[in-house]
Amino acid sequence: MKRAKISVIGAGNVGATAAHWAAAKELGDVVLVDIPQIDGVPQGKALDLAEAAPIEGYDALLTGATSYEPTANSDVVIITAGLARKPGMSRDDLLIKNCEIVKSVAEQVAKASPNAVLIVVSNPLDAMVYVAHKVSGFPAKRVVGMAGVLDTARYRSFIAAELGVSVEDIQALLMGGHGDDMVPLPRYTSVGGIPLPELMSADKIDAIVKRTRSGGAEIVGLLKTGSAYYAPSAAAVQMAEAIIKDKKRVLPCAAYCDREYGVGGYFVGVPVKLGTGGVEQIIEVKLTAAEKGLFDASVQHVRDLLKVVKL
Ligand code: APR
Repeated sequence: MKRAKISVIGAGNVGATAAHWAAAKELGDVVLVDIPQIDGVPQGKALDLAEAAPIEGYDALLTGATSYEPTANSDVVIITAGLARKPGMSRDDLLIKNCEIVKSVAEQVAKASPNAVLIVVSNPLDAMVYVAHKVSGFPAKRVVGMAGVLDTARYRSFIAAELGVSVEDIQALLMGGHGDDMVPLPRYTSVGGIPLPELMSADKIDAIVKRTRSGGAEIVGLLKTGSAYYAPSAAAVQMAEAIIKDKKRVLPCAAYCDREYGVGGYFVGVPVKLGTGGVEQIIEVKLTAAEKGLFDASVQHVRDLLKVVKL
């Protein structure tokens, strides 16, 4: 069987760790790309990962580069290029700079890998995934943003710790924008099939939702020199796996919604079915008036962000 090819653009914390998870899971060959100004860094990280392979027992070709030729005809491209947050910064503070970076990356990726599925990680996510879609010219179903898998993973990890149960048994759904205006849906959260509100008080759930909302900022505050990368990269690679293995996983992702949820042509976090074709279906769940209100507010935030972006 021909191995899949995964390219990761941006060989920083998120990118290099995504390359690590992808190789360790034997998802395919991995190409790590960064800018010419740091020539040697993507190559060095790829070589280091290749040298770990005999110890960990994975077979994958690992390549580092500062040009896009080695990425040609990738099946999946994970875009992590861009600045990361420092303490006191919001994701939105990264908008102008990361927009320029994501534009130039998406252009080059589209030329080199016209049939790839793009997974965008760069922040502010819901705006950057829109930029990548417009600039690449790819059909919307082949462009998807990583946010919900990370946000739900944070939420699930906090619930598991609070209840003292396995993280594997927590199923959850969060919708809307990444981070501060995410829409928590406790009634769609279950612990081994038992609805969360039966196991935890409303106050406890609220506290966990609050912590999840600022989960990224909590890590930035601790690291001080950058933002989270283990969980974000693991989330992006879980999405890549669903696509490469055509698993048809149902995961919360930033997907292009037009009539769906009445969004009107923006990317926002919704439950989707992920397979070889990318976003194969957007699943529309019923929201209460309060949940819909939160969701609409987070869509409005994405619209406002994009007003500043010139495409
Ligand atoms: N092309 C390729 N790589 C680029 C480009 C570009 N045009 N511009 C910047 N980069 C690279 C940087 O050289 C750096 O190696 O992107 C990398 C970013 O790495 P880090 O600074 O370590 O940032 P990281 O923590 O990986 O976050 C990257 O993901 O989660 C988001 O908010 C986060 O937007 C940020 C992105």
